[in-house]
Amino acid sequence: MDWTSTILAIAALVFFFQAFTWKTRAKNKSLPPGPRGLPILGNLLMIGTKPHHDLRRLARKYGPIMHLRLGLMPVIVVSSPEAAELFLKTHDLVFASRPPQEASKYISYNQQNLIFAPYGSFWRNMRKMCTLELLSNHKISTFRSMRKQELDLLVRSIRDAAYSGVTVDLSSMVTSFSTNVSCRMVIGKNYNSDDFSEKGFGATVRETMRIASAFNLADYIPQIRGLDLQGHTKRMKAIAKDFDDFFEKILEEHVEYKDEDRTKDFIDVMLGFMGSEETEYRVERDTIKAIILDMLAASMDTTAATIDWTLVELIRHPRVTKKLQQELKNVVGMNRTVEESDLEKLVYLDMVVKESFRLHPVVPLVIHAAREDCTVNGFHIPKGARIFINVWAIGRDERVWTDADKFNPERFIGSDIDVRGQNFELIPFGSGRRGCLGMQLGLTIVRIAVAQLVHCFDWKLPNEMQATELDMTEEFGIVCPRTEHLQAIPTWRLNT
Ligand code: HEM
Repeated sequence: MDWTSTILAIAALVFFFQAFTWKTRAKNKSLPPGPRGLPILGNLLMIGTKPHHDLRRLARKYGPIMHLRLGLMPVIVVSSPEAAELFLKTHDLVFASRPPQEASKYISYNQQNLIFAPYGSFWRNMRKMCTLELLSNHKISTFRSMRKQELDLLVRSIRDAAYSGVTVDLSSMVTSFSTNVSCRMVIGKNYNSDDFSEKGFGATVRETMRIASAFNLADYIPQIRGLDLQGHTKRMKAIAKDFDDFFEKILEEHVEYKDEDRTKDFIDVMLGFMGSEETEYRVERDTIKAIILDMLAASMDTTAATIDWTLVELIRHPRVTKKLQQELKNVVGMNRTVEESDLEKLVYLDMVVKESFRLHPVVPLVIHAAREDCTVNGFHIPKGARIFINVWAIGRDERVWTDADKFNPERFIGSDIDVRGQNFELIPFGSGRRGCLGMQLGLTIVRIAVAQLVHCFDWKLPNEMQATELDMTEEFGIVCPRTEHLQAIPTWRLNT
């Protein structure tokens, strides 16, 4: 017998043993409906490169609470607003954990971070610390002038391109803008390309997110973990080393830089907690590094991808763009750029951004884990099951949304539906205990950037391209951007 057959034989034995014990446990308890799976692999082969699409297709047949088996792991897929409310509100405490993930173990210093941490006191303390020290309304407002500087730089470089009449890669520019905003807030400075490995910081963060979201066989058939058949673990170990070197350098700079007058950034605050007896936050050096990566990874691409999707939809819908520009003209006027203080008066902008979140939630699958056995809607949900909330499918549920696939911000006129996690038909930031910690900041960055880019510029596609020709294919990952970069020709609109 060669090694492959040996592994398969062992895996088959493990599978039958596990399936037996699991079935015995679940005896007489009714799991939600779902498709039959293959031995060992379960339903893994039913999931392709766009899992949120495949899961919606299956849910249409089996219902909004569906049971799958991916490898040896039970997975519950949640695909309607009512079902999401049961998992994220009614039984929030049971489902407020995250499943262990093999690849992310290496970059999260063994789950010493916030995003992947299991439910418990460590996660609670870290969440509290990040909320108070980085993401409270007060902290967000202290970074307002920094965000303005970065947005001014973006506008200035696009304005230069406008005078030269050249095409800009708007996706790359928006990504740099959001990377700079995140880095300056978290590590106190713009990331310097010499400080990181050849591949570059942004590209490595993006690769990390891609690997962390891939269906890693080791997560679903833990018994074959050591084989690392897809090479994810090996790659994550290499990436972890690059991040570690980079973060060590940054920590050293913070320790050495003793100017008491400078504004303290998040790392200074966390370093202050290290080794202190007076704080409830038990932070070690590794915890700080894990949290830095969390904050950067959670903020950089989510905001950039959302701005990008919104701009693409605006280019595809000139009527909406005109209406938004008219609102900006009325509220801001043509003699100045938009300020964050204008945002609360921009009600149509709010509808445009909501509609973009509905059609293109950049985290299309939100993943939780069951901390204990639970009965939901009469179905048995076993402890340890992974819960996939299909946010993308919920935003396009035809029972809830008229012309669900159409971009139509006017659908929110007179509607109370908001994105903040209280209305389960629209949950781009998740909801409940595990909901997004940076929602307020994310919303502010997205709104101000979209408003500014639409107020300052008219946009035209290059090479006589029609808006209908824009490719809307998504690239699946924890964060789901558009595959193609948005290239467009700007024209300056303001009188200044
Ligand atoms: C448009 C921007 C953003 C979107 C759409 C977004 C979306 C999400 C979603 C869907 C989750 C998972 C929620 C759940 O499991 O129920 C999440 C978690 C999280 N987000 Fe965001 N996010 C954005 C921006 C940010 C920003 C700017 C930050 C902070 C700097 C941030 C920090 C986090 C953290 C720390 C978590 C993990 C919370 C936990 O596990 O307890 N996010 N986000």
